[in-house]
Amino acid sequence: MKALGPIPPEFTAKEGELAIGGRTASELVKEAGDTPLFVYSRAIIEQRIGDLRKAMPERLKIHFAMKANPYGLLLEFMADLVDGLDIASAGELEQAREAGYLPREISFAGPGKRDRELFAAIRAGVTLNLESANEAERALQIGKQLGIAPRLAIRVNPPFELRGSGMKMGGGAKPFGVDADRVPTLARTIVDAGANWRGFHIYSGSQALDAEALIEAQGHVLDLAAQLAGEAGVEVPHLNMGGGFGIPYFDKDTPLDVAAIGVALEKRFADLPGVLKDTQFAIELGRYLVGEAGVYLTRIVDRKVSHDTTYLVTDGGLHHQLAASGNFGTVVRRNYPVAIATRFDAEPEEEVNVVGCLCTPLDRLADAAHLPRAEVGDLVAVFCAGAYGASASPATFLGQGPALEMLV
Ligand SMILES: Cc1ncc(COP(=O)(O)O)c(C=O)c1O
Repeated sequence: MKALGPIPPEFTAKEGELAIGGRTASELVKEAGDTPLFVYSRAIIEQRIGDLRKAMPERLKIHFAMKANPYGLLLEFMADLVDGLDIASAGELEQAREAGYLPREISFAGPGKRDRELFAAIRAGVTLNLESANEAERALQIGKQLGIAPRLAIRVNPPFELRGSGMKMGGGAKPFGVDADRVPTLARTIVDAGANWRGFHIYSGSQALDAEALIEAQGHVLDLAAQLAGEAGVEVPHLNMGGGFGIPYFDKDTPLDVAAIGVALEKRFADLPGVLKDTQFAIELGRYLVGEAGVYLTRIVDRKVSHDTTYLVTDGGLHHQLAASGNFGTVVRRNYPVAIATRFDAEPEEEVNVVGCLCTPLDRLADAAHLPRAEVGDLVAVFCAGAYGASASPATFLGQGPALEMLV
């Protein structure tokens, strides 16, 4: 055993080191100039999206939820690979525009949109996934002020949740979306106000690895959209069916069976109710598209023993990899896949704890990890770092500053 946890199989050794895009970890760090460093692989992302397209019905559009990774070069790279982009703030809108996305490819979901964000979105012509009746009223008002018919969809708070998902976003009281029973009246109001009605956005959860659970949720989404449209007497030009496709982070996690999801969806698409016959369908995915394509490289600056426990102290930590430290929505901390990048093909020899450089016991990158013997100067690789890493971690904590990023 070379390392810990489900290291994506695309990562191989070259000259004894972890190689990404054909270059060794040491070469990449040298080129970047320093550690810690996030490296994202173009080849892995491209392969992932290509395989997904083959598995899904052709009619289904694939959107990228940029909250997973807003790194500029990656965002630009994704523009040619996906059909649309989901944003969650006016800040993300600016980043998306800079990366070359067209407004009609962009949809904006997220609670608490401020008036200036609504102005920016409506002026640009992006679709707003409305989170409440109040937000709808403000969007219509701002549209009037600007003399623009805003592109509006309703984000529905569904009465079901995504079974087995790491983050549930439906099935009860939620700050997201409009409760399903209030949707028909609101949809009617929006259409009657002369907005550019786009349809529904139904997102029920994230990080599911069980294909059956996703098939079930997608079935519920199609049923609910048809029911709501029927009750409101409106069309559904577009249906964002949510996402939730998970990736294996931990020991014993198994990759999602996307082929099974594709087959089930194809069957449903072949037998749609009248109101959904001309609908354009999309799913929005973040981590599934980019999570496994990223590696976080951090250098060992100290090796010490305390009460018979060996610690490898690195120059990275939770300020870049909050999720890997177990502090980003996890109940029980478990190790992300970790390896000694500079000894990638060596056998494990010892049990160590890998920690970051912050003076808090929360700053853990791997507990009781079986790894090859590593010394000061070696590089540690934390895998599954392509989503919710750099931008989802408190980079300024303790004056540390951000990590470097690189697309190879
Ligand atoms: C509305 C919405 N879309 C997309 C995502 C992306 O999730 P994931 O990265 O798990 O695909 C999230 C995550 O919370 C979300 O809330």
